[in-house]
Amino acid sequence: MNVLLLGSGGREHALAWKISKSSMLTELFIAPGNAGTRQVGKNVALKPTDFEAVKTFVLENNIDIVVVGPEEPLVKGIYDFFVKDADLMKIPVIGPSKAAAQLEGSKDFAKEFMFRHGIPTAKYATFTKDTIEEGLRFLEGMKPPYVLKADGLAAGKGVLIPDTLDEAKKELVEMLAEAKFGDASSKVVIEQFLKGIEMSVFVITDGESYKILPEAKDYKRIGEGDKGLNTGGMGAISPVPFADATFMDKVETQIIKPTVRGLKADNLDYKGFIFFGLINVKGDPYVIEYNCRMGDPETEVVIPRIKSDILDLFEGIATRTLSERDVQFEERSAATVMMVSGGYPEAYESGKQIFGLNTPTESLIFHAGTKADGPAVMTAGGRVLAVTSFGRTLEVAVEKSYRTIENLEFEGAYYRKDIGQDVM
Ligand code: AMP
Ligand code: GLY
Repeated sequence: MNVLLLGSGGREHALAWKISKSSMLTELFIAPGNAGTRQVGKNVALKPTDFEAVKTFVLENNIDIVVVGPEEPLVKGIYDFFVKDADLMKIPVIGPSKAAAQLEGSKDFAKEFMFRHGIPTAKYATFTKDTIEEGLRFLEGMKPPYVLKADGLAAGKGVLIPDTLDEAKKELVEMLAEAKFGDASSKVVIEQFLKGIEMSVFVITDGESYKILPEAKDYKRIGEGDKGLNTGGMGAISPVPFADATFMDKVETQIIKPTVRGLKADNLDYKGFIFFGLINVKGDPYVIEYNCRMGDPETEVVIPRIKSDILDLFEGIATRTLSERDVQFEERSAATVMMVSGGYPEAYESGKQIFGLNTPTESLIFHAGTKADGPAVMTAGGRVLAVTSFGRTLEVAVEKSYRTIENLEFEGAYYRKDIGQDVM
């Protein structure tokens, strides 16, 4: 198979690394990729949202399957673009249709979907510019803290959790009347605050059946002890110790099954990854959010724990024969620690040379934001490297990643030193 993978982060390097090990692979292309993905495939200078350019490349290079890493091309309808094009319709895209990708692209859509299908989630109401007054009154009837969510994609910044009613009211007005998040906040979802510990569950589906992948927990805040600004994710672990069989049974019966059944009942074409962002409230799972793609950095622990051939699974998704495919997992724990540029998630500098990448290591070093400069590798993003290790226990896995990081260096490098500690 010739494979085109879209994206350029740590998630894509981990996916590319796994695809490169498949016995079914002929050639792997990554668009646009990074300095890590070029070690396992061929980088091509294509923008994942430039569908016409993707089309030309796919036809010229006899691509057999397109795997989509990030959400943007999916929310913009790359799946539908292929299905509706006479030359492309036979080439499968791993990812949901535009309509189904609204599970991530619109919080209001996702909430309606969950209520329609009886999937546990926080109670909510949605407001627009025309219903600001109702929104302000609704807030008065809620208890703090207040959860306000911009409906559309807002680069991970669209959720605000103010502690006081005054702040909540001010934010609501800014979001709706002053377009704080542009178009994304033309609708705002206000929901009940849920108290618990978060984790993520990943599923692949062909629209009929599904396979549950290893679960993971990520570390979103920049600072140790989960303090400071939100980031794209500073590390991840898998498995998650508190997600025991009882909890995971509830996740499957109360959340995964009704979601896959609901997609089918609503005629929402879905052939790809479903990311369930969950919160454990006194032993019961609730959905905080859906994503229509894999998580980053969760992919860097989940994908290495899959022992099966990933192209066999993708072929199962594409041909609706996923139920006939076998999926095996690595028993050992995995942990990934993210090395980021100094200053991230606020302003940071790029273009710093990275040293130590060739030091022998037991870890997998996935590139998140890097760029090749001749033989040198330079930083090219906030999140730079995701260092993944396996261990008999979580403690061993985390320890190995920290040991590998001691040999990696770039000016201003920062990482959290407490990944996994809250659940050990
Ligand atoms: P989201 O983009 O919907 O995942 O929200 C971002 C973050 O806000 C989540 O990871 C949670 O930490 C927090 N959050 C969102 N919704 C709620 C809620 N209903 N209760 C408590 N925390 C929430
Ligand atoms: N790590 C969270 C995400 O990928 O959305």
